[in-house]
Amino acid sequence: MGTKAICPGSFDPVTHGHLDIIRRAARTFDHVVVAILSNPRKQPLFTLQERLEMLGEVTSDLPNVSVQSAEGLLVDFVRSQGAHAIVKGLRPIQDFEYEWQMGMVNRDLDPEIETYFLMSSKEYSYLSSSIVRELAGYGASLDEHVPPRVAERLRAKFASKQKL
Ligand code: PNS
Repeated sequence: MGTKAICPGSFDPVTHGHLDIIRRAARTFDHVVVAILSNPRKQPLFTLQERLEMLGEVTSDLPNVSVQSAEGLLVDFVRSQGAHAIVKGLRPIQDFEYEWQMGMVNRDLDPEIETYFLMSSKEYSYLSSSIVRELAGYGASLDEHVPPRVAERLRAKFASKQKL
């Protein structure tokens, strides 16, 4: 059956930082399911369908990666996939407290599921979807931070917002 890991997130939108973690997870596990879940602390810019499309496009070269959306608790989704591993990226300092808390809560919910943290690569260690959205709102260049198709979608999203 092989090893399977779930890479969860809100991916609003997917950045080079996310892709780096997904690629590295795909080298370690036989199969990686990228799961878009809702984060109750965030109001997304992109619809679920848009985020699914973008993730599907940017991971299409990775044969052992699939993309899905899920509702409810992450651990329930992990179990439903027959997986026991969650893989998340960890950037210096800012992620630690929240990710630690989530990791602990998820372990309380299901001790059979292990959370693995991959240290973010240094070139992406300051990158986040929220910074990318902010840059896009100011019309700044996004090429360093997101794949070209995602940059296009961000530009289109903010152009349509300005028309409202
Ligand atoms: O990319 P994000 O926003 O940091 O991802 C966070 C996400 C979506 C993985 C997290 O909010 C999550 O797991 N949501 C599903 C609900 C859940 O299981 N919460 C943890 C226990 S309260």
